[in-house]
Amino acid sequence: MKKIVLCVSLAVALAGCDLRPTSSYGFRLPDGDAEKGKQVFAEKMCSSCHVIEGMEDLREGMDPEMTVTIGGMTTQIDTYGQLVTSVINPSHRIARGYRSEDYVDDGESKMRNYNDELTVSELIDLVAFLQAQYTEFPDY
Ligand code: HEC
Repeated sequence: MKKIVLCVSLAVALAGCDLRPTSSYGFRLPDGDAEKGKQVFAEKMCSSCHVIEGMEDLREGMDPEMTVTIGGMTTQIDTYGQLVTSVINPSHRIARGYRSEDYVDDGESKMRNYNDELTVSELIDLVAFLQAQYTEFPDY
């Protein structure tokens, strides 16, 4: 019995440390500049589909395509890996609350594809900006 318990806990521990060649273990972008990221967000017209609490002015003069909220209070802030993925591979994990056909078409996110127009630096700054928009609920 003890052996089985040991095996199971070892399997669980190893699953958290996936070192296969396809693993993203070791992936780390340099730190970004959130202020520059805000400029990128404005320039790339992300506001055409997104609203950020307290920054509604970014939408001024626009004819919005849809309204997907970014930021605010959350139980768990996305890791930067998840945020990078949300921008460059949005269909990988559709945001909670946005799984209806207004936002997703046949499993594909309706988010515009920016992969051929965002520089790596812009992506890094964008993610620093996005991450700063979330606040985690305090633990009780
Ligand atoms: C044409 C509309 C559209 C545009 C333009 C757009 N997005 Fe999105 N975005 C979406 C939709 C729809 C979702 C929700 C479905 C999903 O998760 O892909 C989404 C989801 C996201 C999420 C995940 C939010 C969460 O709660 O997990 C992030 C981050 C994001 N977008 C960032 C951006 C950034 C940065 C830009 C500009 C470079 C941008 N989006 C431009 C439509 C858009």
